[in-house]
Amino acid sequence: MRTQVGIIGAGPAGLMLAHLLHLQGIESVVLESHTREYIENRVRAGVLEQGTVEMMRESGVGERLHREGLRHKGIELRFGGSGHRIDFEALVGKSITIYAQQEVIKDLLAVRLNYHAPIFFEAEAMSVHDLEAQPSIRYRQGGVGQVITCDFIAGCDGFHGICRPAVPVSHLRIYEHHFPFAWLGILARVPPASEELIYAYHERGFALMSMRSPEVSRLYLQCAPDEDIQNWPDDRIWEELRTRMVTRDGFVLKDGPIFQKGITPMRSFVVEPMQFAKLFLLGDAAHIVPPTGAKGLNLAVADVRVLTRALVEYYKHGKQEELAHYTERCLNRVWRCQRFSWWMTSMLHRFDKEDSFTHNIHLAELGYVASSRAASTALAENYVGLPFDTPGLF
Ligand code: FAD
Ligand code: PHB
Repeated sequence: MRTQVGIIGAGPAGLMLAHLLHLQGIESVVLESHTREYIENRVRAGVLEQGTVEMMRESGVGERLHREGLRHKGIELRFGGSGHRIDFEALVGKSITIYAQQEVIKDLLAVRLNYHAPIFFEAEAMSVHDLEAQPSIRYRQGGVGQVITCDFIAGCDGFHGICRPAVPVSHLRIYEHHFPFAWLGILARVPPASEELIYAYHERGFALMSMRSPEVSRLYLQCAPDEDIQNWPDDRIWEELRTRMVTRDGFVLKDGPIFQKGITPMRSFVVEPMQFAKLFLLGDAAHIVPPTGAKGLNLAVADVRVLTRALVEYYKHGKQEELAHYTERCLNRVWRCQRFSWWMTSMLHRFDKEDSFTHNIHLAELGYVASSRAASTALAENYVGLPFDTPGLF
C-alpha cells in the first residue's frame, strides 16, 4: 500500500492530523495497535484550551463539543482552608472547556470513518525504514505482516511508541525530569462539588476536583509514585479527598460510586529535535508534561497544527522550509508549557521531607498568585493556552 503520510497512532495527535490533512486534500493512512472500542473508552485528559476548541470547531468536529462541553471561565485555588478564584474571563478574556479526551477521540474517529478514509485498528507498527529516501512502515494486523510506503511518517504513537526509538541516538537530545509522586485518579457517579475546577494544596498533599459532566466527577489525589491502588479502598479515597479539600466555611464533598480508578505517573520529558529526515514526532511521542497544567492533549494538537501547515506548504506550493523548521516552531511553545506545568506542579504538591519553612513558602506563593493581578494573569494566560506561533489554517 502507498500513501502520502503514514500516521502511526490514533490518539488525539494522529486522528487530528489525519482529519486536517484530509480537509487539505492530503492522503494518509492511520495505524492503531488497539481496538476502536479500547481507544474510545481510554480515560485520560479532560481540559481543552480555547485554541483547541476553536480548532475543533473550525475544522468541523466541534458540534458535540459545543453541545456537551462545559465552558469554564475560571478555576479555584484552595489553600489554608479557603478558596480563591482565578477569573480567566476577567483577566485574559478567554475560557477553557471540559470535554473528555475519549470524546474528542470518538468525534475524530466518527468523521474519519464517515469519509471512508483508511484507518486500521489492531494494526501494530513494528518498525519504520528508509527515513531519508522512501519511508516505509512495517506493521502486523491479524498475525499478517504488511508494508505501507509513504512520503512522510508522522510518529503519533505516544510515549512508549516505536518512532522516537527509530531515530539514531546520536541525533537526539533528551531532557527529562521526574517528580517524586504520582496522581491517584477516580471517576465517580456524583455531581461535581463545585461548578469550576478546584486545585487544592494541603499539608497532606495535592488534591484536584474536576468533572466530566453534571453527573460525573473526576478527582485526583497526590500519592507515592509506587502506590498500590489496592491500598486505596473507596472509603479511604473519599476521606483523604475531604481532608485535603476542607475549608473553614464548611465545604461539603459528597461521595458516590467510584467506577474507575488509576495511578498516573508524573514526569516532564522533551526530545530535540522532533524530526529526523522524513519522520516527524508529535504529541507524547516527543514530549510529556505532568498533568497539573492540563496541557498534554493541547500540546499534541498544537504540534498537529504546525505539521499540517508545513505539509500543506510542501504539497501545494512545493516548499520544504516549514518542514525544515518543524522542531523549532513546536519547541518554543512546548518549553513554555513545560515551564508552566512544572511551576503549577511545584507550587501545589508536597515534596519528600518538606519542613514547615517550605510549607509556608507554598502558602506564600499561592497567596501571592491569588492576590496579585499580575500573578493571577500570568497563571490565567498560560492555563487558557498561550498563542500559537504559526498562523491558522482556516
Ligand atoms: P496518545 O494519546 O498516547 O496516542 C498514541 C496512540 O498510539 C495510542 O492510541 C496507542 O495505542 C498508539 N500506538 C502506540 N504504539 C503504536 C504502534 N507501534 N503501532 C500503532 N499504534 C501505536 N493529560 C492531561 O492534560 N490531563 C490528564 O489528566 C491526563 N491524564 C493522563 C493519564 C494517562 C494514564 C496518560 C498516559 C496520559 C494522560 N494525559 C493527561 C496526557 C494526555 O492524555 C496525552 O498528552 C495525550 O493523549 C497525547 O496524545 P497523543 O496522540 O500524542 O498520544
Ligand atoms: C481532568 O479533568 O482530568 C484534569 C483536569 C485538570 C488537570 C488535569 C486533569 O490539571
